Parts: sequence; C-alpha cells; structure tokens
Amino acid sequence: MTALGVREAYRLWAPTYAAETAISSIDAALVGELTPDLSTARLLDAGCGEGRRLRDTGAARTVGVDLSPEMLQAGVGLDIDRPGLRTLQGDVRALPLPDRAFDVVWCRLVVGHLREIEQAYAELGRVVDHGGLVVVTDFHPEAQAAGHRRSFRANGQVHEIEHYVHTLQSHLAAAGAVGLRLDALREGCVGPDVREFYERADRLAQYREHVGLPVVLALAFRREG
Ligand SMILES: C[S@@+](CC[C@H](N)C(=O)[O-])C[C@H]1O[C@@H](n2cnc3c(N)ncnc32)[C@H](O)[C@@H]1O
Repeated sequence: MTALGVREAYRLWAPTYAAETAISSIDAALVGELTPDLSTARLLDAGCGEGRRLRDTGAARTVGVDLSPEMLQAGVGLDIDRPGLRTLQGDVRALPLPDRAFDVVWCRLVVGHLREIEQAYAELGRVVDHGGLVVVTDFHPEAQAAGHRRSFRANGQVHEIEHYVHTLQSHLAAAGAVGLRLDALREGCVGPDVREFYERADRLAQYREHVGLPVVLALAFRREG
C-alpha cells in the first residue's frame, strides 16, 4: 500500500476523524496523566486536528494550530467554538505565535508525520514559557517495528499515512538542544482499556496478539527557566 502524504490523508480522514481509536484513546489517557491542572494555564495544542481535545480542558486561554484546513473545518461541527479558544492554520515547524506565550504545549501524534523533528522541537521550545511544560506523543517505534502502520479507513478503503520513526534518543536530543528537559516518560500499551475497539472491529484474535505492545510514546518536557 502506498502511504498518502499528510495533507491528502487528513483531507480524506477529516470527516470521520473525531471517532476515537485504540491509539487516540491511549494517547488521551497518557496526556491526561502528564498534564497538570489547566485552570490558570495558557494552552497550545500544536497539530490539534479538528480540536476535539480542546473542548473541555478548563484552560484559561487555548489555541489550536493544525496544518490541515479540512481538519480545522471539521472542528466547526464539534462545538469547540467558545470564548478563550481559537484555532488557526499553521505548521508546527513555523508556529504563527509569539515566543513564551504558553504554559502548557501539547503536540499529540503529530511529529511522526515529520521527516525531521528538530525544527518542531525548536518551535515547541520557543512558544512555551520558562518553567512551562511540553507534552509530545508519538506512534511508538516498537509498534512500527512490530508491523503496525498508521492507517485509517475512508470511502470503504484503508489508507496508510506517511510516517517516520523517531527513536526515544532522537526525541531527547532534539528537545535537549532547545532547553527542554525530560520530566516524565510513559509508554501506552494495548490492554483491556482498548479491547472494545478490537471487539467492535471483530479483531479479537489480533487483540490477543497485541496485548502488551507499546503503541504510544508520551514525553513531558520542562522548559528550563
Ligand atoms: C493523528 S492527527 C492528531 C490530531 C490531534 N493532535 C489529536 O490527537 O487528536 C495528526 C494531526 O497532525 C497534523 N499535522 C501533520 N503535520 C503537521 C505539521 N507539520 N504542522 C501542523 N500540523 C500537522 C495533521 O493535519 C493532523 O491533524
């Protein structure tokens, strides 16, 4: 199967992207664990998709940025439009935002779509304030090594999406180079919490094979003051 480029993939996936998957639900649990109370925070979601994760954060001010106009447009139907929240089109490698403007920055399941991660980390490190937190999640290298691919179904077809493997070492090096120090690391594995996704797809045999496999890598970095 030829992998689709990111723009084309998310154009096709946008109308149905909001449906949770095993990966997105594992991501949500890990980011929930790593994110502090947001009630006084300025939150950025870099690569926010349609912005569904921004709906109920309780953050004082929230910005979502995504490359795909179709994903952002899909968010219009999701009731994410509220005071203090705005979404805009942009690239995580050149964020259209000022320096040090956020206390917490998420970048969830995005950097695996980038051939090189250094520029993205430089931008995440630039926009987070001193002492702030950057949470990055990625498709786990072990999942890719075990043959898993980033794919979705649209118009009755399964499509693979362009994906690049970034090792833990390369994440740490790119983050360290811009003053982001590792604060916490989590690996999200296939397990009972996501069994329902396999069951619904009539893939319980695969569930049994996959149990225990790490599929999401989650890293929290603190911006040195
Ligand atoms: C798997 S989705 C994750 C969306 C969202 N973070 C979530 O967890 O629901 C990946 C998103 O990254 C966006 N994306 C990919 N490359 C990007 C880039 N260079 N800059 C900004 N967004 C990008 C895609 O358009 C897509 O919406």
